[in-house]
Amino acid sequence: MQPNEEIQRVQTTVLGIETTCDETAAAVVSIDADGLAQIRANEVLSQIAEHAAYGGVVPEIAARAHVEVLDRLIARALEKAGIGLPDLDGIAVAAGPGLIGGVLVGLVTAKTLALVTRKPLLAVNHLEAHALTARLTDGIAFPYLLLLVSGGHTQLLAVRGVGDYVRLGSTIDDAIGEAFDKAAKLLGLGYPGGPEVERMAEAGDPERFALPRPMLGRREADFSLSGLKTALRIEAERIAPLAERDVADLCAGFQAAVVDVVVDRTRVALRAFSGVAGRPTALVAAGGVAANGAVRRALAALAGEAGLSFVAPPLQLCGDNGAMIAWAGLERLRLGLVDDLTAPARPRWPLSADPAAAAVQAG
Ligand code: KG4
Ligand code: ZN
Repeated sequence: MQPNEEIQRVQTTVLGIETTCDETAAAVVSIDADGLAQIRANEVLSQIAEHAAYGGVVPEIAARAHVEVLDRLIARALEKAGIGLPDLDGIAVAAGPGLIGGVLVGLVTAKTLALVTRKPLLAVNHLEAHALTARLTDGIAFPYLLLLVSGGHTQLLAVRGVGDYVRLGSTIDDAIGEAFDKAAKLLGLGYPGGPEVERMAEAGDPERFALPRPMLGRREADFSLSGLKTALRIEAERIAPLAERDVADLCAGFQAAVVDVVVDRTRVALRAFSGVAGRPTALVAAGGVAANGAVRRALAALAGEAGLSFVAPPLQLCGDNGAMIAWAGLERLRLGLVDDLTAPARPRWPLSADPAAAAVQAG
């Protein structure tokens, strides 16, 4: 065997650290020479209990909670993967966008590990990590249409390559996950609201309340959720006090409206896609809201109509996790896109230019 053959067969292994919101996560992902990826450890500690009383994430509490658990979580991820720090080929961390206190905890930890181990630092965009997860789980090729729907983001993106994204639409007010969370709070359900609303909606009648479908039929693939949220509040106040049946019907109506909006907006983005990236290989959903069964089923049907496959990560990889950060780090490492210790923490970090700006850049 030639020495370089041996090198080619060796795995590349990256640690991924995620602290941008309310999950503290550390994971180890390896890729072999054939491009086959393996999640060797994926540790996630949710802070839901700490924030539940406030009905949302409290930044200061989040940052403190990350500090308290991150080092132990990294040690546990390495132990589960059966490796030590010297076995790593890179340290990946979500350097934004997100809550600055939490981002700093992750980034400083990753920089320290990179410094003492002399391994490359990979400062990953959290949104890029969601965007690339379908390549970890399903190995799909570029370009693809991505619907990124989480608590903080709602975007339709043409994913043309690593670091190459064109935004086809986004929300002009609330993110979809945020709307689910606010709907749940309004109806006296727990936090995070998405899973609670979905659970209640199962038993509800989606047609009892006539809720609006904002932006339906618009030519641009943008979203707006605030009108729907207001309409839900007005209906809830109109029939208060709410019985369990009422809550179920309101949840079903709300979820059905969201699904209709998501399908309509995604259909518009599919049409716009060819103008910026050619024919997509797939329709991909990512982010916490992609865990919603009704959203998934509707998107799968839409993809079928368009002759595309539909890819959504398994549920534990839809929400925030370290494996997606490690994977994005691996993708960047393979391309030589490494960072140094000056990498900034970026509370705001847009993934893409909009189509007009992309055209200017390309021109
Ligand atoms: O991606 P993620 O874990 O964190 C962010 O980066 O925001 O997404 C969390 C969001 C929350 O707003 C949560 O309510 C929503 O995703 N979510 C859901 C479901 N599961 C989580 N929304 C609707 N249906 C679900 N089953
Ligand atoms: Zn996220």
